[in-house]
Amino acid sequence: MQITMIGAGYVGLTTGTCLANMGHDVCCYDIDSRRITRLERFDLPIYEPGLENAMRRAVDVGHLRFSSKIRTSVSEADAVFITVGTPSAPTGGIDLTHVFSAARQIAPHLKRGAVIVIKSTVVVGTAQRVREMIARERGAFDIRVASNPEFLREGSAMRDFAEPDRIVLGADDARSRRLLRSIYGTFEKIGIPMVVTSTGNAELIKYAANAFLAMKIGFINDVADLCEKAGGDIADVTRGIGLDHRIGDSFLQPGPGFGGSCFPKDTRAFAATGRQYGAPQKLIETLIARNDQRKTALARRIVKEARLAPGSKVTVLGLAFKANTDDVREAAALSIIPFLREAGMRVTVHDPKAAFNARAHLSDVTWSDCPYKACKDAAAVVLLTEWEEYRALDLARLAKALSGDFLFDYRNLFEPRTVARHGLRYASLGRSTVFTRQRADVSSLETWPRRIAAPGHI
Ligand code: UDX
Ligand code: UDX
Repeated sequence: MQITMIGAGYVGLTTGTCLANMGHDVCCYDIDSRRITRLERFDLPIYEPGLENAMRRAVDVGHLRFSSKIRTSVSEADAVFITVGTPSAPTGGIDLTHVFSAARQIAPHLKRGAVIVIKSTVVVGTAQRVREMIARERGAFDIRVASNPEFLREGSAMRDFAEPDRIVLGADDARSRRLLRSIYGTFEKIGIPMVVTSTGNAELIKYAANAFLAMKIGFINDVADLCEKAGGDIADVTRGIGLDHRIGDSFLQPGPGFGGSCFPKDTRAFAATGRQYGAPQKLIETLIARNDQRKTALARRIVKEARLAPGSKVTVLGLAFKANTDDVREAAALSIIPFLREAGMRVTVHDPKAAFNARAHLSDVTWSDCPYKACKDAAAVVLLTEWEEYRALDLARLAKALSGDFLFDYRNLFEPRTVARHGLRYASLGRSTVFTRQRADVSSLETWPRRIAAPGHI
């Protein structure tokens, strides 16, 4: 099948490449011709494990090409996927400008019977609006519009595409349904569940899924706060609840507040849609506020708990919103670092992949290309991204580099006892702060954290 992706960003590139490797003939179009020139040289604008090799394979066998010419990109296509960005609007809803302008651009060039597939995350009713817009542009209702939301996590997008839990096919007519089914026929044959539904339901599913996942994270972050205060251990608590199949054990890892290009934006859009339809999504409204507060609260905790005086050096390891991506959109680092700067700290930062993108958002910080060098003479270290490289840090070397002894690990990468053995004070999430040998007898940690404190006894 001839397929065109409109927008060669994260979603367009990964989906286009994977569809090409399934045997479809795919053209990835982007309005940005420089991006296309770079892609033709396999100079990828994003870091996504496995993507470059998969792209090379698909290009080699002639199933994938890139273009910035709209007419030739879409004129032969059976399916045209819209994969442009849908950023947050100032009202909290989403800005559909790119979706509508992409639809207008392709309208005159589509062949009769082509199906537009909206993959961008859009509010309920968008497919209908695009259908009407295309009909106005062409003077005929000869183009169908379907919805096929993506569930690809940055950093594991290739695997998520290959091993989906389900595929959602939103179509309001038989032809679109047939076309979507044939695109994903291989998956259906191997038993991947297909949720075949209306475009409106597909649009709602995407937001409800992301809002629910974000809510799991918000919930566990609140439980982690309680564990810290009550002397509990979040690892045991999550295991204890996650083994209940009704709950499940994924997306229950406490962190510095969710970020990225989707959860913050999608929860805001879901809440805005609820308000618009008079069905307020109160849980989600609270979640959004709690997530923002969390980033500030964790920044404040660094200054307070380590008793940092203005002028102290703090090293932040991890700028990406999560590991295995160079994306810093709505990353915790972009809230926590400005707070530290305002509190008068000198901040040095390191990230294995995201430093380039972070430069556009952070000023007045010192950039380092080595975590140990970054930590030299720092009063405290703050870990914000769960990179494997940080998990493998040599704690003895780290402790030696520091002038202070505080490690704030907002990803729970280490065992408290291990860190304490290296003479570091260790503040992680959902576990009591563990002091160094000088401050407490490490052997007493054997019983911690099973000692549950009574309220008011902390
Ligand atoms: C996607 C989505 O589709 C979004 O709705 C979802 O919530 C997150 O994932 P993403 O892939 O992250 O967005 O977008 P981005 O990396 O910003 O890339 C979008 C691309 O579309 C850019 O390369 C841009 O140049 C291109 N574009 C934009 C067009 O080709 N045409 C346009 O009219 C607008
Ligand atoms: C998300 C969706 O998961 C995916 O299906 C698609 O819709 C795009 O949006 P992505 O934003 O790439 O994917 O990352 P995800 O792995 O979902 O993480 C989002 C944020 O939540 C990150 O900041 C991450 O660190 C945080 N997170 C995730 C936690 O804090 N704890 C967890 O247990 C999981």
